[in-house]
Amino acid sequence: MFLRMLVQAGLVLLAGVSVASAVSRPVVEDDFGTSEAGHIEIRSNVHNATGIRYVKNSGICETTPGVTQISGYIDVGTNMSMWFWFFESRNSPETSPFTLWLNGGPGCSSMIGLFQENGPCLVNADRNSTTINPYSWNNISNMIYIDQPIGTGFSYGTDTVNSTEAAAPFVWTAFQVLFESTLFSKYASREFIFGTESYGGHYGPSFVTYFEEQNALIDCGMIDAVPIVVSALMINNGWYDPLIQNVAYLDFATYAPGYGQLQPDDVLQNITEALYGSDGCVAQEEACYAAGNSTGSDKICRKADNYCIENVFVPAVGDYDSYDIRQNSSALFPPEYYKHFLHKKRVMKQIGAQVKYKECPDAPYELFVKTGDDARTWLPELSALADSGMKILIWAGDTDMNCNWLGGHASVLAMDWYGNETLHNTPFTNMTIDGTSVAAVQNVDNFSFARVYGAGHEVAAFQPQAALEIFSQVVRMEQLHSV
Ligand SMILES: *[C@@H]1O[C@H](CO)[C@@H](O)[C@H](O)[C@H]1NC(C)=O
Ligand SMILES: *[C@@H]1O[C@H](CO)[C@@H](O)[C@H](O)[C@H]1NC(C)=O
Ligand SMILES: *[C@@H]1O[C@H](CO)[C@@H](O)[C@H](O)[C@H]1NC(C)=O
Ligand SMILES: *[C@@H]1O[C@H](CO)[C@@H](O)[C@H](O)[C@H]1NC(C)=O
Ligand SMILES: *[C@@H]1O[C@H](CO)[C@@H](O)[C@H](O)[C@H]1NC(C)=O
Ligand SMILES: *[C@@H]1O[C@H](CO)[C@@H](O)[C@H](O)[C@H]1NC(C)=O
Ligand SMILES: *[C@@H]1O[C@H](CO)[C@@H](O)[C@H](O)[C@H]1NC(C)=O
Ligand SMILES: *[C@@H]1O[C@H](CO)[C@@H](O)[C@H](O)[C@H]1NC(C)=O
Ligand SMILES: *[C@@H]1O[C@H](CO)[C@@H](O)[C@H](O)[C@H]1NC(C)=O
Ligand SMILES: *[C@@H]1O[C@H](CO)[C@@H](O)[C@H](O)[C@H]1NC(C)=O
Ligand SMILES: *[C@@H]1O[C@H](CO)[C@@H](O)[C@H](O)[C@H]1NC(C)=O
Repeated sequence: MFLRMLVQAGLVLLAGVSVASAVSRPVVEDDFGTSEAGHIEIRSNVHNATGIRYVKNSGICETTPGVTQISGYIDVGTNMSMWFWFFESRNSPETSPFTLWLNGGPGCSSMIGLFQENGPCLVNADRNSTTINPYSWNNISNMIYIDQPIGTGFSYGTDTVNSTEAAAPFVWTAFQVLFESTLFSKYASREFIFGTESYGGHYGPSFVTYFEEQNALIDCGMIDAVPIVVSALMINNGWYDPLIQNVAYLDFATYAPGYGQLQPDDVLQNITEALYGSDGCVAQEEACYAAGNSTGSDKICRKADNYCIENVFVPAVGDYDSYDIRQNSSALFPPEYYKHFLHKKRVMKQIGAQVKYKECPDAPYELFVKTGDDARTWLPELSALADSGMKILIWAGDTDMNCNWLGGHASVLAMDWYGNETLHNTPFTNMTIDGTSVAAVQNVDNFSFARVYGAGHEVAAFQPQAALEIFSQVVRMEQLHSV
């Protein structure tokens, strides 16, 4: 259930890739006719059973003249078709960075981010037309949105991914296939920004760590592949460390800064007992961490997850919308018009989609449940990336309860890295835009934390201007500052 709820959240991963020279090998291009998923197909010469099928300039969503878009499938293995949608930068596409956006779940589509958060358009109430988003992140960056794992969104085929760790190689392969093709090879040498949200607190640290491990194998000649050098990682409202973030549900329900006490004392008392009682949420999470990656850990972590969701998360949230405490459980914002739009035959045909769109289907999610993946921490990996000096932004809309900013902040304060003491001693300062406070921020070298005022889980849906400004400062490798 918790994952189910997390699904909506979405992930923002920013990865920076700078590659000396892209692998350039000949590609075969065939015309497939308009009945196929993509009108054009490129098969990989390097990776078995992989390739790209795509449609160029469908005219859907990005309607700015002269801005190229490509949508279709990256086949990352036999019967494994991963949906992607690429938008060229509206400004200086030849020098703009290359940004990957991933939503969370696990098992939620990145079309959430595209149509509700930071993409080129918003779908209107008629569910049949779109309006340009002036705060789209492709104003300053080339953007690619990917539906992973297989089975999510428009992706289809065989899905074997039952953990965060197991998801990484497929995403890595997707970029190998993209950068091998003449369509995308030029982006292999751009800065690679990895933007993600929600379950991206798992995906981000895991995938970037995996990419770096692959880069090391490339460097020492063990594999022949294109390095994916992430230059920045951005995660908003992420699920990093369940032990810390379950405790934070109690803190947030007791006093959500700016919004006060959310639940009555007797409910808070029950949550306290559920957390700290014998065999409570904290003890079970500690047992999950202690079990490491052993096979036996699956059951222990699964049990911990279920217990904490039922006895901590659910009562802490009550009737609030867990993604925006200013709304109740019947929340209407952001609207879901885009789902109806993507179900239209006309739209599917134009963009090259082959299966019915599913925002957060059960199947991929259930595989993660089996291994208790939600209950596991990726804070050690995040700490190691921060310690390496990578540009990292951990940010959160402050009206989200699901992956609330108190838990996100407590997580980064628990990171084991060289900047720990400094971060602890750095007060929050307000970041303003034209004199209006949009976020409370802390900067330590290349690491930044931001609490975005008046934004729910999908930050860019609520505060589009602030989100684009923050994104642009990260892209420029600046510390967060007022403008
Ligand atoms: C491709 O498949 C062949 C035959 O199954 C196998 O020998 C080869 O190692 C595979 N190559 C890669 C790169 O996986
Ligand atoms: C939906 O939009 C398409 C393309 O603009 C148009 O042809 C069609 O008539 C519209 N359908 C409805 C029900 O408005
Ligand atoms: C985004 O880019 C478009 C096209 O260049 C421009 O008209 C618009 O003002 C830009 N939006 C912002 C917020 O800068
Ligand atoms: C491809 O994947 C689908 C969906 O999981 C499955 O039903 C089908 O049997 C698979 N086909 C092959 C050839 O593996
Ligand atoms: C507290 O927990 C007890 C035992 O599970 C339950 O009976 C009671 O209704 C709960 N109280 C509140 C206010 O949720
Ligand atoms: C579990 O496996 C991951 C990936 O191999 C590794 O980074 C991590 O340290 C392992 N965790 C434990 C507790 O052994
Ligand atoms: C949620 O809020 C709306 C608007 O304030 C209200 O009309 C509705 O009755 C509320 N629903 C629930 C379940 O509390
Ligand atoms: C998860 O997938 C791996 C690799 O396919 C498999 O070995 C393992 O048994 C699976 N775990 C569960 C709990 O299904
Ligand atoms: C911050 O990032 C820049 C660009 O990657 C790098 O040159 C610099 O060394 C990093 N700073 C620290 C303190 O790690
Ligand atoms: C980080 O600094 C705080 C405050 O000085 C300290 O209590 C904590 O133990 C440190 N954590 C790590 C992992 O070094
Ligand atoms: C920062 O901005 C918030 C929101 O506008 C405001 O409540 C707070 O007083 C400001 N803090 C400082 C130190 O100016």
